[in-house]
Amino acid sequence: MKALILSGGKGTRLRPLTYTGAKQLVPVANKPILWYGIEEIVATGITDIGIVISPETGREVKNKTGTGDRFGANITYILQDKPAGLAHAVQIAQSFLKDDPFIMYLGDNLIQQGDLSYFLQQFTQKQHDALILLRPVANPSAFGVAKVDEYGRVLELIEKPQVPPSNLALVGVYFFSHTIHEAIACIQPSARGELEITDAIQCLIDQQKQVSACQLEGWWLDTGKKDDLLEANRLILDTYLKTSNLGEVDAHSQVIGRVQIGSGSKVINCTIRGPVIIGSNCYLENCFIGPYSSIADQATIIETDIEHSVVLQGARIDRIHQRIIDSVIGQCAQLTVAARRPKALRFLIGDDCQIELA
Ligand code: G1P
Repeated sequence: MKALILSGGKGTRLRPLTYTGAKQLVPVANKPILWYGIEEIVATGITDIGIVISPETGREVKNKTGTGDRFGANITYILQDKPAGLAHAVQIAQSFLKDDPFIMYLGDNLIQQGDLSYFLQQFTQKQHDALILLRPVANPSAFGVAKVDEYGRVLELIEKPQVPPSNLALVGVYFFSHTIHEAIACIQPSARGELEITDAIQCLIDQQKQVSACQLEGWWLDTGKKDDLLEANRLILDTYLKTSNLGEVDAHSQVIGRVQIGSGSKVINCTIRGPVIIGSNCYLENCFIGPYSSIADQATIIETDIEHSVVLQGARIDRIHQRIIDSVIGQCAQLTVAARRPKALRFLIGDDCQIELA
């Protein structure tokens, strides 16, 4: 059994963060989204992992993630030279996959810990050609959608339908036997010009192959947008964060609940109410850091209240005397109040940024 993680794509819905980096490397609770997937796969016992990368962000993914040693895995990188679809990614990975069964995992998806092992067991026990995971969603048109009969058998799969036949979305985690390769060879590019994995699975269904569906009961997040990213951050902090303090917290500070503070970080006269993670070498002075916040390494926050937010590496937030909530602050971004006159707002804002002033 192998695993194939897809880590290409442009990440248009996470702009501007994705102008300078891969969407799969955006951190959730200070760890790249992609790494959660790798860890889940390794936890099932699979260590032979292929990661499909794009020419734009492949080098960054490779440099950051490495050979797999840190996860106890062996990672092979496979370059997809154009964004030609999920089924195309499987096609170009064939020399890595060979005829082995495999898990295909979309690198920006997160599912609840432990679920993957359970579904893998279902897949291997029943010798399926494909096992797909479904989850009811409020906006099925944004996903692949399944039509199922009263026994839960899959009748039809449609990619991003305008009129969805159900509210059951295809989760970005699939289990395949080698028969998927023949199915992919039968399909044509969709209206958006991509070889859709949804169409390949439909082809298996049409050929009466063994395609089963399981409903995912645990949580699932497709972290493609800001609010999904914040929700993933909330869930991960809520579920997995452990208290530890490797930094320095002065006597005037109050640390309440589950809070993790990395080495070299200084916390001076602050109130931190967990769950909160603070990376290493951060400087926090006269702040309130509220629940569900992740502050990455080398961030500086002074005289500011912030909660339910993600602050990326090296960002500086200085004397913003209003509470910042539901925000994602990019790497090395600076939010400061200038002493000079006239008292005014001054911006240097990159493309596709979103600013909401109170
Ligand atoms: C892809 C699949 C879709 C699936 C979704 C899950 O969509 O094509 O069927 O429901 O992932 O995240 P994309 O993210 O490429 O729009």
